[in-house]
Amino acid sequence: MKLAKRVASLTPSATLAITAKAKELKAAGYDVIGLGAGEPDFNTPQHIIEAAVKAMNEGHTKYTPSGGLPALKAEIIKKFVRDQGLSYEPAEIIVCVGAKHALYTLFQVLLDEGDEVIIPTPYWVSYPEQVKLAGGVPVYVEGLEENDFKITPEQLKAAITPRTKAVILNSPSNPTGMIYSAEELKALGEICLEHGVLIVSDEIYEKLIYGGAKHVSIAELSPELKAQTVIINGVSKSHSMTGWRIGYAAGPKDIIKAMTDLASHSTSNPTSIAQYAAIAAYSGPQEPVEQMRQAFEERLNIIYDKLVQIPGFTCVKPQGAFYLFPNARQAADMAGCRTVDEFVAALLEEAKVALVPGSGFGAPDNVRLSYATSLEALETAIKRIRKFMEARA
Ligand SMILES: Cc1ncc(COP(=O)(O)O)c(C=O)c1O
Repeated sequence: MKLAKRVASLTPSATLAITAKAKELKAAGYDVIGLGAGEPDFNTPQHIIEAAVKAMNEGHTKYTPSGGLPALKAEIIKKFVRDQGLSYEPAEIIVCVGAKHALYTLFQVLLDEGDEVIIPTPYWVSYPEQVKLAGGVPVYVEGLEENDFKITPEQLKAAITPRTKAVILNSPSNPTGMIYSAEELKALGEICLEHGVLIVSDEIYEKLIYGGAKHVSIAELSPELKAQTVIINGVSKSHSMTGWRIGYAAGPKDIIKAMTDLASHSTSNPTSIAQYAAIAAYSGPQEPVEQMRQAFEERLNIIYDKLVQIPGFTCVKPQGAFYLFPNARQAADMAGCRTVDEFVAALLEEAKVALVPGSGFGAPDNVRLSYATSLEALETAIKRIRKFMEARA
């Protein structure tokens, strides 16, 4: 069957590809340590699971409004007030099938053929594909490693053309873990206001921040910035609810209405039961969120120090999310590999450690390690990488 042109250039997710390869090796009996995961390794907190069971027993198993249950929107609204001091109306919120689907729907309603979206590198793998699927053109701006992978206002300004529709900001970032400060966001925001560029602010890792860093949403910096921002967030990472598929967008009414109309013809609504679970996630105790954050921070501190001691690896210390994004260019050279992609393949084959090559994130000299796995597995993985390097040197 000849498939549509729009899927011809679709590249499968690099993260899922490495996870699949690692699973294949595991199934063949190899002891593989997978550091490719993009999801917390904790179970969903029990009170959230119980809320879902209760919802099912009470018969909440039917269609819901396309944009999400009013009760869930109300909890999301309270969360924005609590965490960012931002006030939204229900018509400014849409609940989607995960943050990924919120972004997908947003680009579908926003972009005409040839419209440009500025994507800072390193980027989350799905941004360029989603933009292209909507007929848009990704325009990459390099977040330099020496600038902690952040883009500058000058770089942003230089990338804007008459076709620029939006810029994606992802803080805390997947894959680098970097966080933009309020001052940095303000400077970037001013350029966006000046040029009428919509800000897509992906804040899915908001709750996972370390070393006393603070998460700031660009929308809280001024009413003008709020009016020109669509915030993307969800419960996947904060409440360890990746499989429940609940995310949302908050932004200008006209955009949210168009997204809701589109959702009414695509998904109808996010799963009713999962929406009840998300209500419990936001209205119930938040201690589990903090406990998971602390566990991630402990792992980060232990594993970061060990990683940077391996010859050939350098790494900007992340302030958020649950990834390390070291530069492995020198390590690849030392191991006799032509590219970092080749290095990652050799590591999996010989050391049985699965990392994700940075090429999938627009940063071919880097690799991504997820520390959303046990400390024991992480420490064994580091030992294996070290041994691999010693054997190859
Ligand atoms: C930066 C970023 N945005 C969005 C998502 C999607 O989250 P969800 O599971 O809610 O679709 C992810 C998941 O990996 C992510 O890393």
